[in-house]
Amino acid sequence: MKILVTGGAGYIGSVVSEYLLEEGHEVAVVDNLSTGHAEAVDPRIRFHKIDLLDRAAVVKVFDSGVDAVCHFAAFSQVGESVADPLKYWHNNVSGALSLLSGMKYAGVRHFLFSSTAAVYGEPESTPITEESRLAPVNAYGNTKLSIERLLADCRKGWGLNSLSLRYFNAAGASDIHGEDHRPETHLIPLVLDAAYGRRGELAVFGNDYPTSDGTCVRDYIHVKDLATAHLLGIDKLVEGYSGVLNLGNGRGFSVLEVISAASRVTGKEVPFRIGARRDGDPAVLVASSEKAEDILGWKREYPGIEEIIEDADSWRKRFPGGYSS
Ligand code: UFG
Repeated sequence: MKILVTGGAGYIGSVVSEYLLEEGHEVAVVDNLSTGHAEAVDPRIRFHKIDLLDRAAVVKVFDSGVDAVCHFAAFSQVGESVADPLKYWHNNVSGALSLLSGMKYAGVRHFLFSSTAAVYGEPESTPITEESRLAPVNAYGNTKLSIERLLADCRKGWGLNSLSLRYFNAAGASDIHGEDHRPETHLIPLVLDAAYGRRGELAVFGNDYPTSDGTCVRDYIHVKDLATAHLLGIDKLVEGYSGVLNLGNGRGFSVLEVISAASRVTGKEVPFRIGARRDGDPAVLVASSEKAEDILGWKREYPGIEEIIEDADSWRKRFPGGYSS
């Protein structure tokens, strides 16, 4: 199939593009490189460096023929979204509107959407299922939930098939693509940087949460397992399926457990101090992914926290300064 990947120069988009190519799909990428990296786009991919807000340019991309779209392009920093909601609403929601308009005009009916656990906000109970209350606590989650609702409207209005995949904490790397956010705010890359002295001690954001060791618990899912779910998701879309699925590991690790696992993987102490809580951090976010397992036949191949950290570590060793190195 001919698949258009928006945000294919970013972290999850680049790994999914790699898997799509391996599966024999023809891949085109749209990315404005505001947070992505041109080096992350495989030379076999047709690369359109355009902004989704440029509707005329988006319409043209569909001229070369597209069967399905995987939409990753979005701003995704929770803290920044709280401080600058207009930036998030403008980019994420207007970008999706522009892309969907291009799809409708070109008659493309299959849409795989990169959604997030942030749509649930502070959960009432865990594990979180797709039926759990939707109550985002930050602008990032609000924009993603709004797009999910827009997709449901497009299904009713013009027959769009869409699959919204709500990722929990994506982590790890493939052999060639990994995490290179600037600035980096995610726990695992920061823990590895602290272990190797690439930055000072890690601040653990609070140890007074109602969890076993007081630090926040998250569900870390290997980005390679996420990529596999996307391949299965595209098959499902083509069969006519539309819906919403959680993608997680079904098991949570606290910040201190991640630090210990990183010490075991690297053989190094991770210097850290306990700092203040970060605004908007729920205590525990753990997914039930039973629905994705049932509907997609998805099985996680890399569920261990150590193998997730090991792959992140190996990638960083190959690219010590990120993609520019
Ligand atoms: N943390 C620290 N110190 C740091 C960085 C993070 O203690 O320097 C803690 C956070 O407080 C949190 C955990 O590590 O408890 C994980 O934090 P991340 O920033 O790595 O990830 P988040 O859980 O905040 O958010 C991620 C994605 C979101 C997505 C969410 C879904 O960034 O886009 O997972 O679970 F919505």
